[in-house]
Amino acid sequence: MYHAIRPALFRLAPEASHTLAMGLLDTLHRLGVAKKLAGARVDDPVELMGLRFPNRVGLAAGLDKNADHLDALGGLGFGFIEVGTVTPKAQPGNPKPRLFRLADHDAIINRFGFNNKGVTHLVEQVRKSRFDGIIGINIGKNLSTAVEDALADYLLCLDAVHEVADYIAVNISSPNTPGLRTLQFGEQLDALLGPIRARTTELDDIRQQPVPLLIKIAPDMSEDEIALVAQSIQRNQLDGVIATNTTIERQAVEDDPQSDEAGGLSGKPVFDASNRVISQLRDHLPAIPIIGVGGIDSGEAARQKLEAGADLVQLYSGLIYQGPGLINDCAAALSGTSGSKKPAA
Ligand SMILES: Cc1cc2nc3c(=O)[nH]c(=O)nc-3n(C[C@H](O)[C@H](O)[C@H](O)COP(=O)(O)O)c2cc1C
Repeated sequence: MYHAIRPALFRLAPEASHTLAMGLLDTLHRLGVAKKLAGARVDDPVELMGLRFPNRVGLAAGLDKNADHLDALGGLGFGFIEVGTVTPKAQPGNPKPRLFRLADHDAIINRFGFNNKGVTHLVEQVRKSRFDGIIGINIGKNLSTAVEDALADYLLCLDAVHEVADYIAVNISSPNTPGLRTLQFGEQLDALLGPIRARTTELDDIRQQPVPLLIKIAPDMSEDEIALVAQSIQRNQLDGVIATNTTIERQAVEDDPQSDEAGGLSGKPVFDASNRVISQLRDHLPAIPIIGVGGIDSGEAARQKLEAGADLVQLYSGLIYQGPGLINDCAAALSGTSGSKKPAA
């Protein structure tokens, strides 16, 4: 069915087509049709980070930034959905156009810049949701907050979302908020993660339930940088890592007239780069859950993410090109597997 409507969606400007597709999905959900079209969720439960995931396939952050479509998306078969990135205050994001399809490469460039309705709205939406899978909440900082003051924004978001989140992802890898990615390196990373870890532990005590804390990292890192991130993850007792966000590299799409649009590139061209990061992280962190994301467009590609070292996978760009059938394809391909397949280094 998706392949029948895709040409019409692709004739619209990418952001308009996204808005239309989400509206259509909500309508089909309200009519009780979406779930029937998608088929039953693949039942392949897995315990990780103290959580029970109904299957290994999740929605990556950025598609449902405000948690406005949780129930409709939940009906498509995801085991988990990561909402956000959310910031303390609502903000409009970058001027349009800010989303580009590189269809010959099954790729997307976006420079949204964390357009969202703010954390209070997102928390209300999550409270209202009836999605029975795992809900991760991805947090970031407002554009108007200086990078040096980023910690304050992350703590504001953390305080607001902790009570309703199944896990929390600290996003320090979006290329569209100036300076954000510098937080991934050196002393800045510990200076950020230390207080976030401490505050999460306090909130865990209040809620009397540990909420796993993860970071989301970029694919544009050298092996040495990955080693340093891994050390910081261990030092600060994080529960997991999401690898990876979009890339600022353009080599694989240089022939495309839109390749020089600023922003993060996602989809097929980021598959190998994200697998390399996952594999190197796994060598440094044999026991920490890794959520593998970047360029998954088939059950086989999802399987390769587990081979690289991931335990769970997430999808975004593949959904735009392949449609929601990709979710069950991936979940079925991973069904019955025992997680990260990477042999010990
Ligand atoms: C349009 C768009 C918006 C995104 N917004 C976010 C975001 O707000 N926060 C985030 O952590 N990642 C965001 N991402 C990155 C995705 O979550 C994912 O890490 C990346 O796209 C690689 O996966 P993919 O190749 O399956 O798309 C966004 C990606 C796209 C394409």
